Amino acid sequence: FSQEIFCARRKKIFENMEGSVMVLPAAPVSMKSRDAEFRYRADSELFYLTGVVDPGSIAVLNPNGDSGSFVLFIQPRDEEKERWDGKRLGLDEAKDIFCADEVYSLADLEKYLPQLLSPAETIFFRLGSGSRVEQLVIQSLATARIGRSRRILGPQSVADPGMVLDPMRIVKDPEEVDRMRQAAIVTVQAYQEMFSAIRPGVGEWEIEAVLDSEFRKRGAWGPAYTTIVGSGSNSTILHYVSNNCTLKNGDLVLVDAGAEVDLYNADITRTLPISGRFSDRQNDIYEIVLCANREAIETIRPGVSVDQIHLNSLDVLIQGLMELGILKGDKDKIIEDEIYKPFFPHQTSHWLGLDVHDIGSYTDKIGSKILKPGMLFTVEPGLYFNNQNSSTPQKYAGIGIRIEDDILVTDTGHQNLTAKLPVNPSDIEHLML
Ligand code: GLY
Ligand code: MN
Ligand code: MN
Repeated sequence: FSQEIFCARRKKIFENMEGSVMVLPAAPVSMKSRDAEFRYRADSELFYLTGVVDPGSIAVLNPNGDSGSFVLFIQPRDEEKERWDGKRLGLDEAKDIFCADEVYSLADLEKYLPQLLSPAETIFFRLGSGSRVEQLVIQSLATARIGRSRRILGPQSVADPGMVLDPMRIVKDPEEVDRMRQAAIVTVQAYQEMFSAIRPGVGEWEIEAVLDSEFRKRGAWGPAYTTIVGSGSNSTILHYVSNNCTLKNGDLVLVDAGAEVDLYNADITRTLPISGRFSDRQNDIYEIVLCANREAIETIRPGVSVDQIHLNSLDVLIQGLMELGILKGDKDKIIEDEIYKPFFPHQTSHWLGLDVHDIGSYTDKIGSKILKPGMLFTVEPGLYFNNQNSSTPQKYAGIGIRIEDDILVTDTGHQNLTAKLPVNPSDIEHLML
């Protein structure tokens, strides 16, 4: 990404930040066990506005003044730590790379942050981390409260950065769409490699390994989220990640995975017959979910509401369940009373981007959000017949099917970024030969 993109985003967000300052700390390093770290994944918000991906960094964005300012705190150089964890940037180097107005060492946070916060009325900062920077933000409010008796102004409120950032992030710019396309391409290719690995006797973990390895081979950071490989009744567990059972002849396997490329994510689900052929029972359900997926995708164009996509998919799923005799009665009543929920407990879509379940509201003042070019989300209807559930018809017990694609809203309609991955039963069966 060129620095101009981040600079332009700061300029844009500054328009909605008058009289305030935003403080964005890097995501914390997560520990896997006692003193072993997970591989670091940069903070989505900090990256979005600055391009900074280094742990320990803190950006302070101030819209006031001629063109606003961007001050960055970074971990100081440390020969011993760098010997273990790798090179850190020097202050001048970071200033250059990130086009910051000022770069300080994190060791000087207490020295400089209070004065950077003092001109703001509102501080955009996410509370709840209990971090050192949070203490300083809270202190700045206390200091300002005392100062007011001496006519000194200062911060009076703390607001969530998402209030100004989320609406921006929901519409992707061309550079972001490009990365999302890449993530989709890598994921489609990995699935294509994976199809032929599916056969009875193979472990769910082996399918996971094929996908994750194909992601890495193609230069992706890795999986966007823990790869889901649920065979048999595991397919009915929505976020099943144990992946420790063996694929059995005659069962289905639901595979939900996505690659992360330059921090941008794909999110695909395909459900496949382990034997290589769908049974009639499986096909009954598969056809309904496929039809819901296709109908919902067909709806997508600027001006349509997000709710409409879900309603169209829901309509097809319920119609299908009624035709199979699984749901009975009046369709509107089934929707109103949510009688379908045991079989379809989730929404059809979620925003997709730097986060897999990307930020952004699904409603605005007038109701359901209206689609605009550049929005990007999944379409993932599913039907799940959990054998623990008393309303599950015996015939379909243990079947879970989800079909998930990633859709970009274009000026005239939509583009399915994952369309190259087969979805029709006959194409899937052919690929699995
Ligand atoms: N992989 C999580 C989801 O599909 O939403
Ligand atoms: Mn999804
Ligand atoms: Mn998914």
